[in-house]
Amino acid sequence: MTAIANPRQAQAWNGSVGLHWAAHTARYDRLISGVDEALFGAADIAAGDRVLDVGCGAGATTRSAARLAKDGHVVGVDISAPLLERARESTVAEGIANAAYELAEAQLHPFPDAGYDNVISRGGVMFFADHAEAFRNLWRALRPGGRLTFICPQPSGPQWEESRALYLFSQLVNGPDESGDSDTVVATTAMASLSDPDRIREVLDGYDDVTVTPVTIETEWGRDARDAVDFLLSRSPDTVVGPQKRAELEDALRPYTRPNGVRMRAGVWLVSAVRP
Ligand SMILES: C[S@@+](CC[C@H](N)C(=O)[O-])C[C@H]1O[C@@H](n2cnc3c(N)ncnc32)[C@H](O)[C@@H]1O
Repeated sequence: MTAIANPRQAQAWNGSVGLHWAAHTARYDRLISGVDEALFGAADIAAGDRVLDVGCGAGATTRSAARLAKDGHVVGVDISAPLLERARESTVAEGIANAAYELAEAQLHPFPDAGYDNVISRGGVMFFADHAEAFRNLWRALRPGGRLTFICPQPSGPQWEESRALYLFSQLVNGPDESGDSDTVVATTAMASLSDPDRIREVLDGYDDVTVTPVTIETEWGRDARDAVDFLLSRSPDTVVGPQKRAELEDALRPYTRPNGVRMRAGVWLVSAVRP
């Protein structure tokens, strides 16, 4: 890999956070795939496009982009080796021949100048050490007239079912707010780095036609409360909970149980910008 601007994120995404995502790719995909319609609707990928998927993880959106750019080519980049391994396996298994992956840090990677018609990212652009530098690097990778489209979280807060439920869950498991320097805390904290639309516009200096549109999605956490609790607890394997606490955790998630699983409303920004 080229130089790493944010070694702590590289450690998290190659360590416990990335390994957990790699072990639960289908689950994480169900969790966030509610944004896909908005992402791909705005990106408007054409059949011959050259597409770059930034922070592609296990490659679900890279594969979707490859199906749209059927006469073009898609490159997924990520700093996480275990997630790229899963991406490559799924791409072969699905018989997709026009997608490739590179272990690369998107802030610093020497992408080909004007090498892409479309740059997309489903939640992979919040972890940069220097967002302005990273988006300048992606600007350079786009051809003039090419479009950047990405999804990032809106501020969390009591207005969102997901924030309320996860806050209560974390209080029950950890007591007062979790803090510190664990991989999970490092990754979760960075998730919020672009939650302010003014900040998004600031780091997209040099792009034209910047739009930041609120989108409400439903995130799916499990088949039922028990399954969702199993999944959430698996993210902190050192945490042991007894039967009483477990029942409380299931009770906390039960209000979000719908016929199609434990689903919570959450807010994201859909961001679109064009290289002039
Ligand atoms: C929240 S996950 C989203 C993964 C994927 N886009 C998806 O929707 O399933 C964030 C991804 O960004 C990657 N990432 C973080 N910092 C990065 C960087 N500087 N360059 C490239 N990828 C990065 C992580 O390794 C991780 O796979």
